[in-house]
Formats: sequence, structure tokens, C-alpha cells
Amino acid sequence: MMHGHFITFEGGDGCGKSTQVGMLEQRLKLAGKTTVLTREPGGTQRAETIRSLLLDGKARDMGKFAETLLFSLAREDHIEKLIAPALAKGDWVICDRFIDSTRAYQGAGGGIDPDLINALERVVVGPYRPEITIILDVSPEEGMERARLRMKELGEEVPDRFESEEIAFHHRLREGFLDIARNEPGRCVVVDGMQPVGEIHQLIWEHVCQRVGA
Ligand code: TMP
Repeated sequence: MMHGHFITFEGGDGCGKSTQVGMLEQRLKLAGKTTVLTREPGGTQRAETIRSLLLDGKARDMGKFAETLLFSLAREDHIEKLIAPALAKGDWVICDRFIDSTRAYQGAGGGIDPDLINALERVVVGPYRPEITIILDVSPEEGMERARLRMKELGEEVPDRFESEEIAFHHRLREGFLDIARNEPGRCVVVDGMQPVGEIHQLIWEHVCQRVGA
């Protein structure tokens, strides 16, 4: 049984999700809601271990099919141990990336058969589909530049597994996210990530209030 609310944020690398995820959480807390802020891949100990394998590129040699399974494996643990119990308690779960990242990165970007991705979703996600998905849209060029600046700030020397993909990949995944939004307008909203941070937050907040009456 799900009594809580499940909101996910999606978009290409450097789209500004992480900032917006944090701002929405603060706003919900101010409104007196109990929140759980989490991310994918990750959110539980096992899923964070899988995250390291995926993002530092160790799993890359196993191929895209194996990577897709690893994202699903991490998701299964995350849902079972964190998302499902929080929703059952009535919490607001805000997740930085979820199923649409698999559809866009492994599917649209990586060429994995959508039927396989749908089958994995059916088995792994079941009823735990997000109620609202915010897709932050920026051009791949802008996203890559922001990701590069963030790396510099954090003192990281190499981009992660997916940031290091060629620009054509990032164009495919942007289209992938926009297609998802077109196909599921009841769940997804696309927000222009080039606007000032505060304005993006306000649009997201208004959308959430409208959809679930925060
Ligand atoms: P991020 O949390 O810093 O955005 O990094 C996660 C990376 O993993 C990002 O490049 C997108 C990628 N990813 C996938 O390729 N498939 C997935 O299902 C998920 C959740 C993330």
C-alpha cells in the first residue's frame, strides 16, 4: 500500500537536477512534510556499490546489456529497502533519477531494446511508478559544459562513464527524455533548465502543488 508521494527528477548530465531536488525537499519540509531524498543508481548500501561499478566504468566491458541489468538490480534493492517502506509510511520520496534514466541512457542513448527495458520495469518496479516526474531540459552542449565545471569544482579528473560518451549520445538521450514526456503527459512535465534556478524551482513547486495539493 502506498500512502506517500513519489516524485522523480530526470534529465541529461548537467541539467541542474541535483540543485532542484534539494530545493524541492527544503520547500516540502517547510510545508511540514516528511521527506526522503534519494538517488539512482544508489540509495542503499548495495545499490551504492553497484553505482561505483557502473559510474567508474568497471562494468563497461561487460557490455550495455549487463549495465542495464545492473541498474535494474540496484533499483530492485532501492525499492525494496527504501522507497517502498517510505511510501508505505506516507513520506514524500524525492528521487534523483529513476526508470526514465534507464529508458533514455540505456534505451534511446545506448540502443537497448525497449521491450527488454519494459520487461525489467514490469518485474523490478511493479506498482512503484512515480506519481510526478520532472524532466529538466538543457541542450547537451550546455549540460556537458556544466558537468565539466562541476568536475573542476570537485577536483575530479575524469568524467564518469556516461559523461564521457560522445555528444551524439547526449542528443539521443535528450530526445529520449522528450519522447517519454510526450508519451506520458499525465506523469511527466518538461521544465526548461536554462531559466534562473529560483524560477525553475517555483515552476516545479507550482506543478507539485497542482498535482498533489502540497
Ligand atoms: P548522476 O546521479 O550524477 O546523474 O549520475 C548517474 C549517471 O548514471 C548518469 O550519467 C546517468 C546514468 N544512469 C543511467 O545510465 N541509467 C540509469 O538507469 C540511471 C539511474 C542512471
